Amino acid sequence: MSAPVVDICVHHAPNGLSDRIAYGFTKTLRFCADTFFAKRYGHRAIVLETVAAVPGMVGATINHLKCLRRMCDDKGWIRTLMDEAENERMHLMTFIEVAKPTLFERLVILGVQWVFYLAFFALYLVSAKTAHRVVGYFEEEAVFSYTLYLKEIDEGRSKNVPAPEVAKRYWNLPDSATLRDVVLVVRADEAHHRDVNHGFANELGGIAVDKARMAPSPYHESGIKIAA
Ligand SMILES: [Fe+2]
Ligand SMILES: [Fe+2]
Repeated sequence: MSAPVVDICVHHAPNGLSDRIAYGFTKTLRFCADTFFAKRYGHRAIVLETVAAVPGMVGATINHLKCLRRMCDDKGWIRTLMDEAENERMHLMTFIEVAKPTLFERLVILGVQWVFYLAFFALYLVSAKTAHRVVGYFEEEAVFSYTLYLKEIDEGRSKNVPAPEVAKRYWNLPDSATLRDVVLVVRADEAHHRDVNHGFANELGGIAVDKARMAPSPYHESGIKIAA
């Protein structure tokens, strides 16, 4: 099985106040996540994927409503954002098979979902460009975090357990696939989200987007049921 190639160094240099706010916000959350989880990457993945699955659905909802009001075409944004939300939810369904959240983490997820959903919805209404830039920066951090997770596995600090069944079906991985193979495709997904969201922010900011340079989306089985 060939591993998806990912450029892990892609970074959008903040340009203007909106980008700086998005970057500062992301770095603040990164500091909180690093403090809270340290190197517990399985737990980190579960909690952060519950957050990562929110923006796509918020963006899809708001663009859907906007297109209804203005009676205009969405240029494919709604489907792209809904696919992103489903993809992040499948990351969660995968990592829940690898690590189990503690009761405290479940309470954190509850509280964070309330706050983050409402805050992101409000941000998207005020500035869709900043909202997509925030997600682009979140995804840069996700690519970095999954790269560290790979290092933990390669250096034997995290066990390279067999890949969960749900992951094998979703990414069409071979029976022999392991956690390492899963982290590689998840990282490739995050790189794709990173480039798509920076692309949306650029488009809204009037900056030319080179779609040919975007990280491709790995193969996914759509509409997969969690239980076989
Ligand atoms: Fe994710
Ligand atoms: Fe993502």
